[in-house]
Amino acid sequence: MMPATEPGLPELIQGGMGVGVSNWKLARAVATAGQRLRARVLGVVSGTGLPVMLVNRLQSGDRDVVRALKAFHPGIAREIMDDYLVEGPQAARRRCKLSPKPEVLVTGTAATKAKMMKLAVASAFVEIWLAKEGHSGPIGINVLEKVQLMHLPVLLGAMMAGVDYVLVGAGIPHQVPAVLANFANNLPASYRMDVAGSSEKHLLTLDPREFVPEGTMLRRPKFLLIASHHALAMRLSATVEVDGFVMEGPSAGGHNAPARGKTVAEDGQPIYGDRDKPDLAKMVELGKPFWLAGSYGTPERLAEAKAMGAAGVQVGSAFALCNESGIREEIKCELRHRIGAEALEIKTSATASPSGFPFQVVQLKGTLSDLPVYESRKRVCNMGYLVEAYQKEGGGVGFRCPSEPVNAFLRKGGTTEDAAGRVCLCNGLGAAAGHGAMTRDGIEPSIVTLGKDIGFYGRLAAINPDGTYSAEDVVRTILPDLRAAEAS
Ligand SMILES: Cc1cc2nc3c(=O)[nH]c(=O)nc-3n(C[C@H](O)[C@H](O)[C@H](O)COP(=O)(O)O)c2cc1C
Repeated sequence: MMPATEPGLPELIQGGMGVGVSNWKLARAVATAGQRLRARVLGVVSGTGLPVMLVNRLQSGDRDVVRALKAFHPGIAREIMDDYLVEGPQAARRRCKLSPKPEVLVTGTAATKAKMMKLAVASAFVEIWLAKEGHSGPIGINVLEKVQLMHLPVLLGAMMAGVDYVLVGAGIPHQVPAVLANFANNLPASYRMDVAGSSEKHLLTLDPREFVPEGTMLRRPKFLLIASHHALAMRLSATVEVDGFVMEGPSAGGHNAPARGKTVAEDGQPIYGDRDKPDLAKMVELGKPFWLAGSYGTPERLAEAKAMGAAGVQVGSAFALCNESGIREEIKCELRHRIGAEALEIKTSATASPSGFPFQVVQLKGTLSDLPVYESRKRVCNMGYLVEAYQKEGGGVGFRCPSEPVNAFLRKGGTTEDAAGRVCLCNGLGAAAGHGAMTRDGIEPSIVTLGKDIGFYGRLAAINPDGTYSAEDVVRTILPDLRAAEAS
């Protein structure tokens, strides 16, 4: 098969990893390594939960964030800093203020809507601005279609900071290309929100002129769809402007596509079969570049992907465990140690994620994968990113999450079956990256996700005596031609 590639396209994409795992530091380290090594790599920040992180960082007096905000709309940046910035010796050890929930964009007053919109646009601007600082490599942002409420502000903020790629997974994001085109033409954009139980059109809208200085034109980034099957790739490319595809298999870290056959193994893990595999010959026929993801973190797997016509690979887990990733140091250390000792189990949970998609969960004592920890956690929903919009009986749109307190979920029309086994991924993943919300009961327990295939670690573990490695080490390890060029 001929590779569907064009000059300048990345060969290695560092996958977006929420919440806060692929933060600006990781994406920037990847892009900087790419520039230094002359490698075609793409660093990607996660676009999920960015307002939470902005608010937390400001309350600990983060100077990088303040620097980035100074490059943003001055009036709005000032408002945000007045609300949240804590400087000097008082910089909060305990974070006191929480970011508003995304749902206020629908249910809030005009004032709270405006506040959240500004915070969300600024948070994406800051993350991309910092990721792009000091090098000329490309940077992407990853968003989940399930988090539709945040698309308009996050995409606008990212474009204002010059984002090069937008990668969208966890759903069918057919509205995204029009949003990118409108913002690039300085026109208002709308997003039709899915609302369970309603056939009405519920539109979210945002006018970029409220944020973009007059006379400034934004550049349309490339749009990559993250899909598991060629059928979705073909369907989307027939109807909207897609620049390429990341084809992600069921061993990838994070969320996975549901298995087509509904069978599950005895331990509850979904069973994937041939029908779940994309037909890569059809992907080549489509004529657009594609990257393979899920167990592609080695040079051998990169070569296989290219031989099948891919432009390259997207890798998550190998980057999640590198020095620059946002996972808390002690967790990373334990994960690496356990992989080295061949004592790490990763299971696909059909129930953990409120999104309803299967989710890879690292089985780790003291985290939410540990039944006693899960059962003793008091359910709260104080971040609200994976919520579902629903039509309220008395009229209007409400928001519910199967991992919220069960009574509240039932009052909103949810069922006990749907609530069973759900994990608050906003808090759990946030906590693993140091951004869990603080509740009255203390710090939230973490949950950790990694891909099923951790064979990549063998080579990386040998780099330093303590088993640590950098983002640049991952790039060097996966791109063998680069190593040959360096040696010559
Ligand atoms: C810690 C972690 C978090 C992830 N979060 C996201 C996410 O927020 N959005 C997304 O599209 N993919 C997410 N992924 C998937 C990665 O972007 C990537 O496609 C995947 O990890 C590739 O498979 P690998 O883990 O075998 O390398 C995540 C993966 C990991 C390991």
